[in-house]
Amino acid sequence: MSFLTNLFARAEPVLSEATARDTPAIAALHAASFARGWSEDEVERLLSEHSVLTHRAMAGSALAGFIMSRIAADEAEILSVAVDKSFRARGLSKILLALHMRRLAGLGVRTIFLEVGETNDPAAQLYAGAGFEEVARRANYYDDGSGRTTDAVVLRRDLF
Ligand SMILES: CC(C)(COP(=O)(O)OP(=O)(O)OC[C@H]1O[C@@H](n2cnc3c(N)ncnc32)[C@H](O)[C@@H]1OP(=O)(O)O)[C@@H](O)C(=O)NCCC(=O)NCCS
Repeated sequence: MSFLTNLFARAEPVLSEATARDTPAIAALHAASFARGWSEDEVERLLSEHSVLTHRAMAGSALAGFIMSRIAADEAEILSVAVDKSFRARGLSKILLALHMRRLAGLGVRTIFLEVGETNDPAAQLYAGAGFEEVARRANYYDDGSGRTTDAVVLRRDLF
């Protein structure tokens, strides 16, 4: 690892709103984090939607994580959250989610929904810790690519 890479790997990532310029990095991190990654076109389209809010965590010039939601009236759906493998288990998704929720509340959102695979322990832990509760299940919703399916758990968090 170079001196600079080392330095940024230790520094606290800086959080801010993402822009269209983050498209390649977000698409790459999404592809590395999920069985079906988003293409750059999909990410670019999402980032350009007025109803989509995205926060990023930057470690120097490298994307360490992001979180993205779509807002409809006073509800929001978290579309994705991912943290680069080298930054996981350090509390980064918790601070991304906390900032994102504060910003959603400031925009008038009262309720947040999302879907998560039933076997995704880090995500389940993240959302339980932030006060999300299970409200529904979709049986055999996710296919891990090897023929095995898992349920999707629908989670909800009221902000007010
Ligand atoms: C889910 C994900 C975003 C968590 O990011 P992270 O920055 O590593 O998570 P944090 O360090 O903020 O930890 C969040 C919670 O998960 C727990 N956690 C972290 N890694 C874990 C693991 N491997 N197994 C179980 N729990 C874990 C933490 O202890 C923490 O809970 P706590 O506050 O009760 O201690 C990350 O694992 C990821 O990018 N996964 C791939 C993409 C994905 O599955 N996204 C979620 C889709 S809904």
